[in-house]
Amino acid sequence: MQRGRFISVEGIDGAGKSTHLAWLVDYMQRRQLQVRQSREPGGTPLGEKLRALLLNDEMHLETEALLMFAARNEHLQQVILPALTAGEWVLCDRFSDATYAYQCGGRGLSIERFMQLEQWVQGRDGGATALIEPDLTLIFDVPLDVSQARMANSRVLDRFEREQADFHAKVRAAYLQRAAEHPQRIRVINANRSIEAIQTELAQLMDGFLA
Ligand code: TMP
Repeated sequence: MQRGRFISVEGIDGAGKSTHLAWLVDYMQRRQLQVRQSREPGGTPLGEKLRALLLNDEMHLETEALLMFAARNEHLQQVILPALTAGEWVLCDRFSDATYAYQCGGRGLSIERFMQLEQWVQGRDGGATALIEPDLTLIFDVPLDVSQARMANSRVLDRFEREQADFHAKVRAAYLQRAAEHPQRIRVINANRSIEAIQTELAQLMDGFLA
């Protein structure tokens, strides 16, 4: 059985990634790939309970990071790793790059703490540095004013969406920095264009990835 591939999708709040996720699922299904769509925080019954806490309850910065990684551990063990082993493709709405962007970039969690948690939850047996990571990460990037305008039109905002523009600017900068540090794995998509233009780029990118 060939191991499946792991793709994560990221972006600041209001970047419009849901539309692109739906397109990606459809693209994969048209290619007869078995796709498991999931999300973080969440993706398991326990993870969804943690999500409700994370999106609604005030908490210490490090508690937030620990709960993100607790949900991630459950998700990896219960869903992602079994699906990949069974040959399925996993398409995940956010993964650890979101913790780097939001908790480190947005809130100021130290990179050392982040790396400790990443190593604990995503570390592979035997390898001090080898991590279980997505094979491909797509960051949908929009300027801050675009994301802010989209959020202004949206329904009830969660604890992260309610943060000031300055917080979202730091999250965006951290995403772009992370992409610069991992050019093989992470692709930044300019999502401030027509849906057609974005989908054309996505199709080319995915065709190349599948080849
Ligand atoms: P979503 O609205 O895209 O589903 O994501 C939920 C929120 O959780 C979003 O504002 C980003 C935030 N988040 C973090 O702060 N750290 C993380 O590690 C993850 C996965 C999400």
